[in-house]
Order: sequence, then structure tokens, then C-alpha cells
Amino acid sequence: MNQVTLVYFSPTGNTKKSLEAMAASLGGACETVDVTAVEEPQVRRFGSDEKVIFGAPVYAGRIPSVARGRLSRFRGEGTKCIVVVTYGNRHYDDALLELADMAREQGFTVVGAAALVGRHTYGAIQVDRPDEKDLAADGEFAVRAFSRRDDAPEVSVPGGSPYREGGSGGKFRPLTSEACVRCGLCVKSCPVHAIADDCVTVGEGCLACFRCIRICPHGAKNMDTPAYNAFAAAFTEKLQKRRENEYYC
Ligand SMILES: Cc1cc2nc3c(=O)[nH]c(=O)nc-3n(C[C@H](O)[C@H](O)[C@H](O)COP(=O)(O)O)c2cc1C
Repeated sequence: MNQVTLVYFSPTGNTKKSLEAMAASLGGACETVDVTAVEEPQVRRFGSDEKVIFGAPVYAGRIPSVARGRLSRFRGEGTKCIVVVTYGNRHYDDALLELADMAREQGFTVVGAAALVGRHTYGAIQVDRPDEKDLAADGEFAVRAFSRRDDAPEVSVPGGSPYREGGSGGKFRPLTSEACVRCGLCVKSCPVHAIADDCVTVGEGCLACFRCIRICPHGAKNMDTPAYNAFAAAFTEKLQKRRENEYYC
């Protein structure tokens, strides 16, 4: 069977882009299960002849805990899968191992694992990534991973266990300017439904994922505070040096 299913949590789209590049290189039919704004995805079982690619960003060195809960609803029967984490050029720490462990516990056979650099949510870090070169390499990797021999040894995935503390959202909260027309796009797109129907009030659960800032068609959401701007400038300075993607299969 040629079918590949992409299952991802991707508030700002880096992870989505890389998984789509992988699917394009594999060719054949592709199904997408985007759990970014779905709090309780339907429980799903994949057969042994299917292929799945799981993807999530790195939040403080771990898979975001909300993504963990959503991805835990997918089960395999020895189903081959690739696990992908994208991170903002600092480090992925234990997130890739965490996602690989989860997939294995849920009945998947991990044939490949990738830690990929994408634009960081905060500041101006690797803003053009994933770039075309990254996406081409992602695609080649997916083909290689799914062509792995069935008797090849288990894929070794970097990371430490017990995993470091992490997986939570950030502390910044988006602001709303007068450009807001109350269209409601941010309300329905928020991964944790933290934005009230007025499009302005932001609740405690906000992950500071910046999805609302990136998707607002009117540019009405922003993070223009002195505290954020100072943090972003220092963080950008610190994470200048380009890191390369890592592929394991
Ligand atoms: C709350 C939060 C924590 C983050 N922690 C890390 C981190 O530990 N290391 C890192 O390199 N990038 C970190 N990032 C950046 C994201 O991992 C990166 O931008 C990722 O590619 C976003 O994926 P997406 O576009 O699919 O949502 C963090 C972003 C947020 C919002």
C-alpha cells in the first residue's frame, strides 16, 4: 500500500512543511491528520501495511504536553513510522527520543527519526527555515527511511532518559491592536482555545505558540512589549549560529 498519513501538531507551520515535503517525495496517496487545533482527535488504529509520519515542535526540550496527549490517540500494529521534531536552532534535547518512545509504545516501528531546524517562534532566528535545501533533504530522508530493510537493527535516537523538565508553553501573551475586525480566525485556530469569542481576551492556558500572531490576516495580533522585545533581541543574538538538521535511519 502506498498510503502515507501525516499526523502533526504544528502551531506555526514548520513541522507541517517538513512533513509535506516528505510525503511529496514518497509519492502516492497522502492523508493529513492535523491535530493542532483538535483537542481530542478520534482514536485511530493503523494497519501493518500503512506508513505514518508523526511531527511536533520542541517546547523547552520536550514535545509540548498538549501535543503528547493528542498524539497518544494513534495506535499501530507494527506500522512503520518516521518521527520528526522541529526546533528553533537552540536544541531539541530529549524531544526526539520522547516522540520515538511514544510511537514505539503505541505499536509503531520507528524506521526513521529527524530533528529539523525551523524558524524559532521568538525573535528572528533562522527565519527562512525550513528552506528549499532543508525540504529536499527531508524528502530524500523519508524515501531512505521507508526503504529500510525489515531486519535492520532498531533505529538509535539521541536524547536522555528520564527526560528533562519541559513541554510547557511560554510566558508571553499576545496583544490585539485596533486592526482587529473580530473575524474569529484566531479563536478557532488557537491550539488550546485560549482566546475568548471577543478575539481579545487571552486565558491562562495560552501556550505563547504565536499561531494567532502568524495567521491573523489583519496583522492585529502582536507581541510588541518592551519585555518581549528585549528578550527577543538577546535570544536572537545568542542563537545566531546555524545548526544543521539531523536524520537517523
Ligand atoms: C513555548 C516554546 C518553547 C520552545 N522551546 C524550544 C526549545 O527548547 N528549543 C528550540 O530550539 N526551539 C524551541 N522553540 C521553537 C520551536 O520549537 C520551533 O519554532 C518549531 O519549529 C515550531 O514548530 P511549528 O512551526 O511546527 O509550530 C520553542 C517555541 C515555543 C513556542
